[in-house]
Amino acid sequence: MDAILVKGNGPLRGRIPIAGAKNACLGLMPATLLSEEPLTLTNVPRLSDIATMSHLLESLGTEVQALNEGRVIVTSSHEIANDRADYDIVRKMRASFHVLGPLLARHGHAVVSLPGGCAIGARPVNFHLEGLQALGAEMELKDGYVHASAPKGLKGARHRLPFASVGATENILMAATLARGTTILENAAREPEIVDLVKCLRAMGAQIEGEGSETLTIEGVDRLHGTTHRVVADRIEMGTYMLAPVITHGEVELVGGSIELLGSFVEKLHEAGVDVTPTNEGIRVKRAAERIRAVDVRTEVFPGFPTDLQAQMMALMCTAEGSCALEETIFENRFMHAPELIRMGAKIDVHGNTATVTGVERLKGAPVMATDLRASVSLILAALAAEGETLVSRVYHLDRGYERVEEKLGACGALIERVAA
Ligand code: EPZ
Repeated sequence: MDAILVKGNGPLRGRIPIAGAKNACLGLMPATLLSEEPLTLTNVPRLSDIATMSHLLESLGTEVQALNEGRVIVTSSHEIANDRADYDIVRKMRASFHVLGPLLARHGHAVVSLPGGCAIGARPVNFHLEGLQALGAEMELKDGYVHASAPKGLKGARHRLPFASVGATENILMAATLARGTTILENAAREPEIVDLVKCLRAMGAQIEGEGSETLTIEGVDRLHGTTHRVVADRIEMGTYMLAPVITHGEVELVGGSIELLGSFVEKLHEAGVDVTPTNEGIRVKRAAERIRAVDVRTEVFPGFPTDLQAQMMALMCTAEGSCALEETIFENRFMHAPELIRMGAKIDVHGNTATVTGVERLKGAPVMATDLRASVSLILAALAAEGETLVSRVYHLDRGYERVEEKLGACGALIERVAA
């Protein structure tokens, strides 16, 4: 099993290319099930989660072709040969559950494994099921699987999500594109990945209004056709790498991203004393002051502070001036990185969903363990500025969401390498 060895090595300088968004792709790829015609996605990140989704779609009978070293994926679902999404695949990646809505809408029947628990929280799928039932689907939970059917097809309806869930919005939105009549989805998620999915579905012939707002209106159509869609840039990868020059007193240009995708994350960085400037190709980031100021953070749905950048922000706050409170409101167990940062000399107190961080002069390298995707990269960020060596183990978590992290940081002067653990 791989680990990553990092030696603190002073300021990072250079350019980092931002890949297409993992979380957009995991919403976009299941859309292929809605049409007999090919869906081509470009700017696809090369990640293990994308490979898992490809594997799942192939198990349903979809042809999946990876071109241009995996940057382009062509998927064709001429027919739905199999409507069962197996536990063996779904347990590896919860986003597999996003095939339920499209299968139901196109095929009228689906058997999809429940995803089960996750390191960062219970993460039930009740909002997905309730939304699809509002469109007329019949559901039965049996032996760990959702057995769903809509023998007469789905029917448009007005439905309000109890919480602006990203995954539930994606599932219901895709199902509604082929439902008879109008669906009005209230309290819908507003994340850039949702906007990207709507753009792709519209290019496939869907009739949708309201992306980026709290209400989506979908006019069902009889069929969707194929299209080619460029995946939006990965705002979480971008936000992560924005902190690398800040935590090391350097300066980096992130190529291919834009500030609009980041919601209030950029305001928080400004508050902390970070200089973020748009450039022709992306954004440039560096410190505006000698010492970063500690700032309070509360994670929220978009355009609030993204929960997927909370761990990385904690790593930065570990050496900030003063102390701050980080409140996690989206997931109930998303501070697994705190005890590992404490091993590196950080001062962090976790009570319920709030972590209080008191800045120290400098962290010290130590062997640490990754527990989930974003926790793993927060340990790498902390290690970049720590004294001495840090060995981060269980980096398979990292490979799910970060492409070639050693190369991207190494190109900016980081001493970072993948080693066998
Ligand atoms: C998406 O997960 C992202 N994953 C997550 O990124 C991200 O953290 C999350 O949205 C929030 O922004 C993908 O897009 C593949 P939710 P999702 O449904 O869709 C509760 C990463 O690091 N909930 O918006 O699963 C749920 O438990 C990952 O890349 C229910 O209770 O998130 C959570 O507390 C991690 N019932 C909250 O809502 C439901 O039916 C938000 O979940 C659905 C959700």
